[in-house]
Amino acid sequence: MPVLANHAVLATAASAIGGVIAVVLIGGFFIAVVANMRKGRAEVGSELELAANRKPYLSDEELEGSKLDRTLGFGLVLLIVIAVALPIYWLAEPGRQSGAVEQFDKEFVSRGQTIYDVKAKCSDCHGPKGVGGVKDYTLLNANGDFVKQVSWKAPALNTVLYRYSKDEVKYVLNFGRQNTPMPAWGALGGGPLTEQQLDNVIAYLYSIQLPATDSQDALQKEIDTVCRPDANNNCTIDDPQGHWKTLGEALFNMGEFDGFAAGAYSCARCHTAGWSYGDPQVAGGGGQLGFNLTNGSERRQFETADQQQVFVSLGSELGKPYGHGGIGDGQMPGFGVNPTALIPKDAAATGMNPAQTMYTQDQIDAVVAYERSL
Ligand code: HEC
Ligand code: HEC
Repeated sequence: MPVLANHAVLATAASAIGGVIAVVLIGGFFIAVVANMRKGRAEVGSELELAANRKPYLSDEELEGSKLDRTLGFGLVLLIVIAVALPIYWLAEPGRQSGAVEQFDKEFVSRGQTIYDVKAKCSDCHGPKGVGGVKDYTLLNANGDFVKQVSWKAPALNTVLYRYSKDEVKYVLNFGRQNTPMPAWGALGGGPLTEQQLDNVIAYLYSIQLPATDSQDALQKEIDTVCRPDANNNCTIDDPQGHWKTLGEALFNMGEFDGFAAGAYSCARCHTAGWSYGDPQVAGGGGQLGFNLTNGSERRQFETADQQQVFVSLGSELGKPYGHGGIGDGQMPGFGVNPTALIPKDAAATGMNPAQTMYTQDQIDAVVAYERSL
């Protein structure tokens, strides 16, 4: 209420000032009219003496001499001004425009950051700058009854545009992920953010994507920590927690125990029920979002490992058929050469395949071999 009252006071002050100005203006106008009429009345005498157009003008010499020179001189100066100013304007215009675009982008990113850190608090779950995190969550059964309290992995987002296109990310933002801590954010899914705000957040996500080499180096370091594969892709260290037998198995479950990137590089977070909250059921047996991959069920779609490698590498696209009878919805990420993903900023400098982002081809092969053994 005090706020409202303040507004009212401000409003009255503003209208009072406006009223005074209006009175002064109207009063001044009438004074001017009266003064003018009085002046007019004083004008007496014949038209011949007083007509304004009858005053003597410049002589011919003056008109064609100094007066003409002066006018031509003015023209010349103006012409020079235009001749110089226009090209300068024209030269500077592209710079001004790209500057404006850059400024606009910065504005977009900073608004997105505000949404990420403050308004929607994505950072509470996905970590500052999208490094990944966990969130407490209450598991309910189909009837909505309490099952248990869990900590759910919220995948790192600093590589999300390497596995998904912008539109695919927007889809997740719009609709969230059913029965996970990830709510629907977009108005389309009944969430609080407008289309514009989603674009802002995505612009911010663009700005925090890791250099792709950093992403690959981090994954390689993690592989060396939990598996250290030999030439046959069998793990040579007994990870105290994982006991992964092969590189493929380690990749499939990447981050299960130590929370590396909160599972962003794993398959199990979608294809193994319970994986994301530390209660994994049958590995690859079907999860929150992804299908059952066990007992050769994926061979329903892919007869050969080659075909499957291509699919895991590219990911699915909305409405695009894959395998024998699959229709993609864009939610299976592309882990290798993803045609719809962001091209990393460092691609040209490092000579890497600009579209090879999450996994290398060897890693794709290894994970597919593991999958086909399930
Ligand atoms: C309350 C916690 C929480 C908040 C807040 C939250 N998320 Fe999520 N988000 C999650 C979880 C958990 C998942 C993974 C769900 C699953 O297991 O499939 C997820 C998944 C995602 C994904 C899919 C990533 C992938 O690789 O599968 C994106 C993109 C995403 N969130 C973006 C955002 C953005 C942007 C915001 C803020 C507008 C946000 N999230 C806010 C918890 C959260
Ligand atoms: C963010 C969730 C998610 C992650 C992570 C994920 N998938 Fe998927 N996957 C899906 C979805 C969803 C589908 C179904 C296709 C679609 O709807 O686009 C799918 C389909 C598949 C299929 C085809 C199965 C069929 O029967 O149609 C294979 C094979 C597969 N994924 C393998 C993998 C591998 C290997 C990884 C890890 C490198 C992985 N997925 C990671 C969500 C995911």
